Amino acid sequence: MDTLIPVINRLQEVFLTVGAESIQLPQIVVVGSQSSGKSSVLESLVGRDFLPRGTGIVTRRPLVLQLVHVPPLEERRSQDNGIKAEEWGTFLHCKNQIFDDFSEIRKEIELETDRGSGDDKGISPEAIYLKIYSPNVLNLTLVDLPGITKVPVGDQPEDIEAQVQEMIVSFISNPNSIILCVSPANSDLATSDALKLAREVDTDGRRTLLVVSKLDLMDAGTDALEVLLGRVIPVRLGIVGVVNRSQHDLNTNKSMADCAKDEHAFLQRHYPSLASRCGTRYLARTLSRLLMHHIRDCLPELKRRVTVLSSQYQARLSDYGQPVEDHSATLLQIVTKFASDYCNTIEGTARYIQTTELCGGARICY
Ligand code: GDP
Ligand code: NA
Ligand code: MG
Repeated sequence: MDTLIPVINRLQEVFLTVGAESIQLPQIVVVGSQSSGKSSVLESLVGRDFLPRGTGIVTRRPLVLQLVHVPPLEERRSQDNGIKAEEWGTFLHCKNQIFDDFSEIRKEIELETDRGSGDDKGISPEAIYLKIYSPNVLNLTLVDLPGITKVPVGDQPEDIEAQVQEMIVSFISNPNSIILCVSPANSDLATSDALKLAREVDTDGRRTLLVVSKLDLMDAGTDALEVLLGRVIPVRLGIVGVVNRSQHDLNTNKSMADCAKDEHAFLQRHYPSLASRCGTRYLARTLSRLLMHHIRDCLPELKRRVTVLSSQYQARLSDYGQPVEDHSATLLQIVTKFASDYCNTIEGTARYIQTTELCGGARICY
């Protein structure tokens, strides 16, 4: 077992076979002030360039991004769905349209944002639903949210701050969500509204992770070492510093691969003692680990179900005296093997992250 994807897909199959609901992986929700880098963080986790980002208020409706694992194109038979792309996207609001060009996905998000919230900085709590199908992703849901804002601009109502907070809270109150608080290194962490909101719904900090963005934009002579070490505000699940693409990188179409390389070099140079615990790749690894913990917690129930199923088969066998197919032994083997390989898997995942970088991004799936 050297990657998370086949493991989880296998387990999903087991869940389906025993009639259990498939594993509900936690959904990952980004929270932070406007322009803190939320969309940028999500994008580098997915490893593709497709979210609207930029200075000012760009994300104005929640975007619920569902990643869906599909077999690679070469293993798909043409009659499956006729789609010729390796990776593609669809939106709930135009179900039948296939987007295999990721820049078209970004355009459609922008158009749909304007349709739902006007084109003058208005905000709407109504989510846009996007599915991305790819052989390189886990079945996982990520939520991009508008940033916390204080002063109304454009079409925004007087109570914009309260409206946005309400929208955020409605997503992060879900106990099955991991809260990714994004806070820029060049602003005071102690005043982070994101952390404050997260604390309100996740009082013991079991599902809040802090991402410190914009490490590259700190004033000369200052650094984020104290923050990253948790000495300013401790965060139970961890604090991960990252360098996302700058506006200049976006304007010049710098590739995700080059940005990942530069992020790595920056961290080596400025935070040598912490470099192995920082960066987008490390963030992806941390999230993978949290997901694995979650799955591990689901296993006892899964084993129980398999055992019950097995005895039902046995009972039927003796009732009818006829051969009945019994898959439960194999299923139990899979579950048990998963449990015993659990530690290896985390290590394998880490290795895989380091060796597989299709688009240069960290890709949460590895
Ligand atoms: P959001 O409003 O929180 O979603 O933030 P975006 O992801 O849209 O980013 C806002 C702006 O900040 C964009 O111009 C990004 O290029 C820039 N940005 C985000 N993160 C970083 C970073 O780590 N370093 C630098 N230099 N710029 C960043
Ligand atoms: Na922004
Ligand atoms: Mg955004």
